[in-house]
Formats: sequence, structure tokens, C-alpha cells
Amino acid sequence: MKQLHEFEIKKMLRLADEAREKAYAPYSNFRVGACLKTDSGAYYLGCNIENAAFTPTVCAERVALFKAVYEGERSFEAIAIISDSLNHTAPCGVCRQALAEFCLPDMPVICADRDGSYEVHELRELLPMAFTSADMED
Ligand code: THU
Repeated sequence: MKQLHEFEIKKMLRLADEAREKAYAPYSNFRVGACLKTDSGAYYLGCNIENAAFTPTVCAERVALFKAVYEGERSFEAIAIISDSLNHTAPCGVCRQALAEFCLPDMPVICADRDGSYEVHELRELLPMAFTSADMED
């Protein structure tokens, strides 16, 4: 696994926690924040944004990822996720697939609880056999 310094993880969790404050989650009342760090050292933040029709709801992880991709970022060092839960929050399946499009399989995913306790997993552990562009080659 790629090594991340403890102070870097703590910084990303602090930023993700600030992002969580911006969540629009009136239906679930479950706020999530994400901090995606690029290889060049930039941080992109996201929160979950819900919708009365439910289906258009978007997770914090994808908001952070899509903001970064829009800005032209294509290589990522790590992502940190924090929520209102006392359990460590891991990305949903859709977000795992979205991350797999742009992030290497060994990218660390930092899954934290609301008190900042965390565990780190490689993306490939969370999404084995991800479907990628390679699967569409002859
Ligand atoms: N949610 C996220 O933002 N990220 C996750 O990793 C899990 C779920 C959001 C979606 C929805 O707004 C709320 O949490 C409850 O599922």
C-alpha cells in the first residue's frame, strides 16, 4: 500500500470534515464529506447533495471527484471520507466505480468515523475486478 503520513491523513480528514458541514442532506440527515488529493498536491472537497426525487442524490465522493476532473485533474493520491456515523464510512458501490475510472487500483481510501478514527484500504480491495476501459479492448 502507498504510504501516507499520519499528518497528511489528519489534514485530509480535517478538510473532509469541513466539507461535511456543507452537506445538503434534509432527507437522510446523514452528512458526508470527502477530500480527494491530487498527485500534484491539490485538495478537492465534496459533500453529499440530496434531492426530493432521491435518485439524483449524489455522494460526497463523486462531488469531489467530478469537481477535480472538471478542473483537468487526472491523477490522484488518496481520498478521505468522513460522515456523521460512529462507523467507518466507505464509499458506496457507484462511487467506487467512479473512482476506478480515474484512480489507480492501489490508491488509498481513508474511511473515517465522525470522531476521526479511520481505516485505510486500497481502492482495489473495495472494488475487485473493477470494470475499466481495458475490459473493452479486443
Ligand atoms: N453517501 C455519501 O455521500 N457517501 C457515501 O459513501 C455513502 C452515502 C450519502 C448519500 C446520501 O445522501 C446519504 O449519504 C445516505 O445514503
